[in-house]
Amino acid sequence: MASLCFPFPSLLLLLLLRPFFTVAQTTSPNITLGKSLTAHSGDSFWSSASGDFAFGFRQAVGGDYLLAIWFNKIDEKTVVWSANRDKLAPGGSTVLLKTSGQLVLNDPAGKQIWSSTFTATNQSVSFAVLLDNGNFILAANDSEIVWQSFDDPTDTILPSQILKKGNKLVASYSETNYSSGRFEFYMQTDGNLVLYTRNFPSDAISNHYWSTDTVNVGFQVVFNLSGSIVLIAENKTILDTLSSNNPTAQTFYQRAILDHDGVFRHYIYPRGGTGRNSSWPKAWSLSKSIPSNICLAISQGSDSGACGFNSYCKLGDDQKPFCTCPEGYVLFDPNDVTQSCKPNFVPQSCAFPEIDDFDFVSMDNTDWPQADYGHYLPVDEDWCRNECLNDCLCSAAIFRDGNCWKKKFPLSFGRMDYSVGGKALIKVRRGNSTLQSQNLDRNCKNKTKIIIGSVLLGISLFLNILLFLLTLLIGYRFSKRKLLKFNGGDPFILGVNLRAFSYEELNKATKGFKEQLGSGAFATVYKGTTLGSVDDNNLVAVKKLENIVKEGSGENEFKAELVFVTKENTGCWFTSSWKTGLLQILFLSLQNQLGIQEFNLF
Ligand SMILES: *[C@@H]1O[C@H](CO)[C@@H](O)[C@H](O)[C@H]1NC(C)=O
Ligand SMILES: *[C@@H]1O[C@H](CO)[C@@H](O)[C@H](O)[C@H]1NC(C)=O
Ligand SMILES: *[C@@H]1O[C@H](CO)[C@@H](O)[C@H](O)[C@H]1NC(C)=O
Ligand SMILES: *[C@@H]1O[C@H](CO)[C@@H](O)[C@H](O)[C@H]1NC(C)=O
Ligand SMILES: *[C@@H]1O[C@H](CO)[C@@H](O)[C@H](O)[C@H]1NC(C)=O
Ligand SMILES: *[C@@H]1O[C@H](CO)[C@@H](O)[C@H](O)[C@H]1NC(C)=O
Ligand SMILES: *[C@@H]1O[C@H](CO)[C@@H](O)[C@H](O)[C@H]1NC(C)=O
Ligand SMILES: *[C@@H]1O[C@H](CO)[C@@H](O)[C@H](O)[C@H]1NC(C)=O
Repeated sequence: MASLCFPFPSLLLLLLLRPFFTVAQTTSPNITLGKSLTAHSGDSFWSSASGDFAFGFRQAVGGDYLLAIWFNKIDEKTVVWSANRDKLAPGGSTVLLKTSGQLVLNDPAGKQIWSSTFTATNQSVSFAVLLDNGNFILAANDSEIVWQSFDDPTDTILPSQILKKGNKLVASYSETNYSSGRFEFYMQTDGNLVLYTRNFPSDAISNHYWSTDTVNVGFQVVFNLSGSIVLIAENKTILDTLSSNNPTAQTFYQRAILDHDGVFRHYIYPRGGTGRNSSWPKAWSLSKSIPSNICLAISQGSDSGACGFNSYCKLGDDQKPFCTCPEGYVLFDPNDVTQSCKPNFVPQSCAFPEIDDFDFVSMDNTDWPQADYGHYLPVDEDWCRNECLNDCLCSAAIFRDGNCWKKKFPLSFGRMDYSVGGKALIKVRRGNSTLQSQNLDRNCKNKTKIIIGSVLLGISLFLNILLFLLTLLIGYRFSKRKLLKFNGGDPFILGVNLRAFSYEELNKATKGFKEQLGSGAFATVYKGTTLGSVDDNNLVAVKKLENIVKEGSGENEFKAELVFVTKENTGCWFTSSWKTGLLQILFLSLQNQLGIQEFNLF
């Protein structure tokens, strides 16, 4: 443990800490054992000797309290450290310096929310004090530090603070929500200094997006009073300068924070008084950002990148990233731009082509790296558009220099920047002409859900196509005088897992439409067993429409029945077929476990 009188072996650090220590020791009001603070809406804090910093309770958005240290002489009470970011304290909570020397935060019922944990156990704490550099310490009677907030940083480091091996800064969730967020800045025990995305909401780190590459040589990050932030080796050699050439801590308040957007930033703020440069605004101004463009920096991992899924990131004039949904997409949570975006339209069905219902929104200099599953070269833009349009799995295409990449859903690591080049083509539905799918989602759950959903979403289109095809086919058949047989390679197979059956097959399956299960105004339903390729144990119901489906009542009844069947039988699946000519046949296959009586429903 370092002693306050002779703080660190390093000359550099000794120089750093000296002035603060002297000030603190002579003028700072010591906090004696047994003292406490209670969280309430007024001021409730202990201040440092100069008044620059305060330690106490700050009310967070939502009304609960954060036990924190903040800059107290500026209008913006910027928080630099906190004890309970992930477990806010209700009003009436107290922080107490126990006679045992432990600092504890208890809720009004006396339940412990947080406590200082010591590593050195031999010294007993005799007082606490908030130093003028923003460090809150618990010290022994010989002023040796037993515990200090500088050893347990939150998301910020201050001049004279050192980030030791094993220390990390974890970004806040958002500007106003202090809980642990999505990024961390880690001085690893192996000596490398790394920026990571975290697998939010878990604490595990995901992928690194910046590092000093100093494995085995890196030692500590030092923020000195001249405003330099450097990574040093154990022999004090500077390995990497993170920020330099800044005004000194005498004329400016300074802090370096891992911001909620994943950028490590060094900020300065003019102090009041004589040394002040009046041209500086009374606000935090940015001195350095690492990485310089976060939008481009994060491009791999299992997360979504700087912004949410389907969102894209653009660096603003203030050097801050902005997350935006592409046209046709909207935020899941309209109040949180860092969240993912969802399509504002019913996605393309894989069962029915719907090609005319989709178009592209074109965005220059935009890319979503990593989500591609098809790369074509050399092609032109029209080819690229067509390729994506005809592929129901394709949610966007990137076209750049004769390259075409198909992107799957959801899109990740989105960015818009001049350096990206090319263009993104986002597939969106034209207009609003789709059926609603709410009814289905809760009915046909498991594996069949998608198929059923697709079938129903496409039903109206399906019927139109059906009528159209029918007309063509009737004409064709009349000229050929021969039954058409649909098989696997037939264009009328409408999508994955949907099989069209010929009249002969259905005739065979029902043994010539022998066993009638029920009948209605438009159709009769027959019992059958499965045909050919399908599992032989399957019972099937074959519905024979007595008239050609016409627009109007026939179509509505057809739809109503489909909805009815899917509602009643979870785990159901469809396949469809029709017989050309005067008959239309809908073939439904219900899974084995469904009893025969189910068929009587229709
Ligand atoms: C505590 O004191 C004992 C006995 O004086 C000593 O052996 C031990 O190393 C000390 N531990 C620490 C952490 O200073
Ligand atoms: C604070 O307490 C320490 C240890 O008892 C003492 O050395 C120091 O003078 C005290 N400072 C003030 C301002 O009372
Ligand atoms: C400091 O505390 C130790 C016990 O923790 C005690 O032995 C010593 O006398 C104290 N020194 C002063 C100056 O109070
Ligand atoms: C802050 O963000 C966390 C993580 O998303 C969330 O659980 C918590 O409710 C948020 N707090 C407030 C006050 O919004
Ligand atoms: C802070 O670090 C910079 C860069 O190493 C150095 O030039 C400067 O003298 C240091 N300032 C102090 C007060 O140690
Ligand atoms: C200090 O350590 C670094 C990294 O281990 C090494 O490259 C450098 O030569 C050393 N410098 C001195 C003066 O020892
Ligand atoms: C005040 O700060 C600005 C910005 O660094 C600088 O250009 C200017 O010379 C400074 N003025 C004085 C009087 O120091
Ligand atoms: C859907 O219709 C609503 C109401 O007419 C309209 O506000 C909205 O923009 C339409 N959406 C699309 C994608 O056309």
